[in-house]
Amino acid sequence: MRVLTFDSGVGGLSVVDALIRADRDHIVDYVADSAWLPYGDKTEADILARAPRLILQVAEKWDAGAIIVACNTASTIILPALRAMSPVPVIGVVPPIKPAAALSRSKLIAMLATPATIARAYTDDLIAQFAADAEVIRVGSTALVTQAEALLAGAGIDLDVVAREIAPCFVEAGARRTDVVALACTHFPLLREVFEKVAPWPVTWLDSGDAIARRLSQVVDAGAGHVRAGRAAFSDPSKSAPSWPAFHARGFVACFGLDQNFVPDRAPSA
Ligand code: DGL
Repeated sequence: MRVLTFDSGVGGLSVVDALIRADRDHIVDYVADSAWLPYGDKTEADILARAPRLILQVAEKWDAGAIIVACNTASTIILPALRAMSPVPVIGVVPPIKPAAALSRSKLIAMLATPATIARAYTDDLIAQFAADAEVIRVGSTALVTQAEALLAGAGIDLDVVAREIAPCFVEAGARRTDVVALACTHFPLLREVFEKVAPWPVTWLDSGDAIARRLSQVVDAGAGHVRAGRAAFSDPSKSAPSWPAFHARGFVACFGLDQNFVPDRAPSA
């Protein structure tokens, strides 16, 4: 079965990595709305008008049996509409607030996401429901999305920028200090080693990749087997070209552009 993974850019590769680790019998395809990256600074209405159409067009053309919205920013907005329109199951990404609150001993946790995600009512509800006994410091960053894109495009990253952006996650209150950081943007697990290097003290960095892989197995149980990466499409292939080696390294074999109606630009070859 083919599974279509969606993100604004390379962030969904952190979810693909989790799917590869889970190793079920799927082919994983990928579509990135690179022409619109970053989603974190777009309006809800604009994302709602665009992303479901783009995803469904590619899902239909590539015969997807399930869709993974591997983008927190989009998931907080489009899931109900996309589910209503999609003929196949849709799995969204949920910020790992519940496991973060459960794991934290200091009950001081940080949520690192795009500025859009930290401000959503969806996030308020999640924190109220699952982290009522914890203090959750919300930190929004678009610069880290840019840094993750640069890293996967083989360009250097700026450690000072990364250190500056994660610094507000690290809070001390008396004898307590932040001990868990919930990574609620799929780009950010791609920077985990860099975060560890520049963090003021060690913390647990949690992401949602493995939870998505487990959810996919529940929704469409393809059984044990071998996951394979398949096709990748980009709404702006010229912007995405530098990160193609990162896709290739994960086993993606064919690269497409999308036309103005979001149709992949040539017949599937893999
Ligand atoms: N990877 C996306 C997320 O999980 C967002 C990056 C963006 O701002 O486009 O939120």
